[in-house]
Amino acid sequence: MEEFSEDTIKAGLETQIIGRKIYIYNKTSSTNDIALSLAERHNTEGVVILAEGQTKGRGRLGRTWFSLPQKCILCSIILKSNMLSERLNLLTIGASVAISKAIRNTTFLPAYIKWPNDVIIRGKKTCGILVEKRKTKTGFIVMGFGINVNLDEEDFPRDLYGKATSLKMECAKKVSRVELVQKVLFEIEKVYLYLKKGEGSLLFEEWKEMSSILGKQVKAILQNEVVEGQAVGIDPDGALILRLDSGISRRITEGTIEYAFCC
Ligand code: BTN
Repeated sequence: MEEFSEDTIKAGLETQIIGRKIYIYNKTSSTNDIALSLAERHNTEGVVILAEGQTKGRGRLGRTWFSLPQKCILCSIILKSNMLSERLNLLTIGASVAISKAIRNTTFLPAYIKWPNDVIIRGKKTCGILVEKRKTKTGFIVMGFGINVNLDEEDFPRDLYGKATSLKMECAKKVSRVELVQKVLFEIEKVYLYLKKGEGSLLFEEWKEMSSILGKQVKAILQNEVVEGQAVGIDPDGALILRLDSGISRRITEGTIEYAFCC
């Protein structure tokens, strides 16, 4: 059984900031909660929290996040940038590009991004991202993500059947969590340093290449309405741009995207 340890992860980690300190928990409430509570301590930029289990793992829009010990990556990273703390959607886009790239490089699987925070393989979700900040204006941001690495089909609860998948299920062999987490942290650091400098154009190009919805007719399920249109791009803040049938463009900052036509 491949265990996480700070030493093993650091041994093959090619980063400068992210992963300078790695805390590993057997079980915790949520790695994002731990990261949010540690963030304001001295010198925490780049600190990584990993856990084998979460009692209150959470996703976007108040959803819970399912995981099993030894089979997933549950990770949160503390980042610091006043500018980026006002642009959490952009960081979510950055994380989705970085994680998709790391998955592609490690497994050669066709990982794609479903705006805003899902990494999908052959139409099923394999990773979710949750970027949060403290309510007080500190400039600290927590980038949390969960990747289904070595789960088998029967491990998933019934309500996720047909919607979620794991890397092992898709490539029919076990994937090294240590190697994958090293690659993910490396790709996230590249994107983070790039965005911190205020540069985004390369990221947008990469997002376009890996987007599963670009150019497609989609429905955006928002809090009080459902809007339908063609996904034509993202703006500099990471909001999704839909071109409605009326020809008007609509900027979507949160919600869930579904394909308008399904097979
Ligand atoms: C989503 O798809 O809605 C986002 C899921 C994010 C899950 C990860 S697991 C590690 C970190 N800790 C949490 O409680 N959530 C994120």
